[in-house]
Amino acid sequence: MSNHSHLSDSVKTLVIVAHADLGASRINKRLVAELERRGHVTVHRLYETYPDEKIDVAREQALLLAHDRIVFQFPLYWYSSPSLLKKWLDAIFELGFAHGRGGDKLKGKELLVAISSGGAANMFQAGGLHNYSYSELLRPFQQTANYTGMIYRSPFIVSEIREVTDEQLEKYAVEYADYVEGQPATTGTKG
Ligand SMILES: Cc1cc2nc3c(=O)[nH]c(=O)nc-3n(C[C@H](O)[C@H](O)[C@H](O)COP(=O)(O)O)c2cc1C
Repeated sequence: MSNHSHLSDSVKTLVIVAHADLGASRINKRLVAELERRGHVTVHRLYETYPDEKIDVAREQALLLAHDRIVFQFPLYWYSSPSLLKKWLDAIFELGFAHGRGGDKLKGKELLVAISSGGAANMFQAGGLHNYSYSELLRPFQQTANYTGMIYRSPFIVSEIREVTDEQLEKYAVEYADYVEGQPATTGTKG
């Protein structure tokens, strides 16, 4: 008997983890460990796969084609993703694949961004230290999803990481895995 839920078996999920040093990570490492413990999704560690940053475009595109839900998981670096994920995006979401003539390969797939952030959530608003909300800062991902016909899901965010206790981190890990493995979206979020 399989202990997989029928939903996680039907929605094929690819989690692209862009953390430059997962060994030294606390938050992302725990989130990844929970996903792997359950074993329902494909975890793809970008920095470990491409230590020389030479990305295999055909391999990455094939991975995308084989999955319905794509998760970008990363620590927020200067209000954006670590650079290898941007490099990956620029190479993989190319003309004729993700956009333009024949570029409908991502259409209907889901995109879910999961970030960890050193700053506190209440700093991410007008007048706060970081001035802009997470939703605003993640607009390039959201609009990339829109432009390529993907369905943008609400981001999963772990804020103020230094204040997160081990107990809270366990709860985040369960919440995250539940969300990543959960029901497919019927519509995108406006964010
Ligand atoms: C180069 C760099 C840039 C960072 N920029 C931000 C930032 O813009 N906003 C923020 O909230 N945290 C920022 N941080 C903090 C990281 O987001 C935080 O260390 C990370 O989420 C911790 O996750 P981990 O335990 O998985 O390593 C930055 C950290 C580094 C090293």
